[in-house]
Amino acid sequence: MSALIEFNGFNKFFGEQQVLNGIDLHVKPGEVIVVLGPSGCGKSTLLRCLNGLEVAHSGSLKFAGRELLDKATDWREVRQQIGMVFQSYHLFPHMSVLDNLLLGPVKVQKRERSDALAQAEALLARVGLLDKRDAFPRELSGGQQQRIAIVRSLCMNPKVMLFDEVTAALDPEMVKEVLEVIQGLAREGMTLLIVTHEMAFARAVADRIVFMDAGRILEQNPPEIFFTNPQTARAQQFLEKFSYVAALPKTTQTKELELP
Ligand SMILES: Nc1ncnc2c1ncn2[C@@H]1O[C@H](COP(=O)(O)OP(=O)(O)O)[C@@H](O)[C@H]1O
Ligand SMILES: [Mg+2]
Repeated sequence: MSALIEFNGFNKFFGEQQVLNGIDLHVKPGEVIVVLGPSGCGKSTLLRCLNGLEVAHSGSLKFAGRELLDKATDWREVRQQIGMVFQSYHLFPHMSVLDNLLLGPVKVQKRERSDALAQAEALLARVGLLDKRDAFPRELSGGQQQRIAIVRSLCMNPKVMLFDEVTAALDPEMVKEVLEVIQGLAREGMTLLIVTHEMAFARAVADRIVFMDAGRILEQNPPEIFFTNPQTARAQQFLEKFSYVAALPKTTQTKELELP
């Protein structure tokens, strides 16, 4: 099957600084990709390039067979097919949940309100928030707002969803409810590109882990290989940080547990 998203020799600069370097990444329809790597390695920039939020690039970036780096690209249209959810939810505070959800489908996509409403309500029910349809964002928890933000994106019927550390700002007890929504999308066969620091989730949800460092992709492997047998020293170091205590030598662990 041909790729839905294709980065080929893709580079991205901020002024003199090259933040993406020779990116080759092909994502097939229905694939779930989790992008891992240390802070500042270019994960967010990679996702943002797919949304036309970044300029100053070279190489090739295709979506559904179309070159996006062409001057003629209509990003307004492309963005409707590529949903993106960030760390902060960006719901309109003065609008109810339903009005937030209907804005894109009705105002931007010019769909029938009744159609869009039926879809919005079905999606709300799926994430367990139908009873919040008339609530305002300030009346919702962070986890609820983030689930609404995901639904808002889904209401545009995107071909792919990008998630950039969507649980990073949430209290721990709310992380699970948001990750479950994403896992549900994965199970349904939606194409997903996910940046996360939740390693157990990454391992469970990903078809492929893409490991980045300093603007380059160093590894692309199924999770069972990446997490048990990382191929590069950088990936090994990265993973060790997430299993800090387990990686400590036994003597150190014992010492830390001793009371003075
Ligand atoms: N708007 C910007 N202007 C200049 N440099 C930026 C900008 N956004 C990101 N960068 C730089 O690009 C690099 C990659 O950033 P980013 O993609 O946010 O990394 P990550 O998401 O992996 O933490 C970093 O060195 C960062 O400082
Ligand atoms: Mg980031």
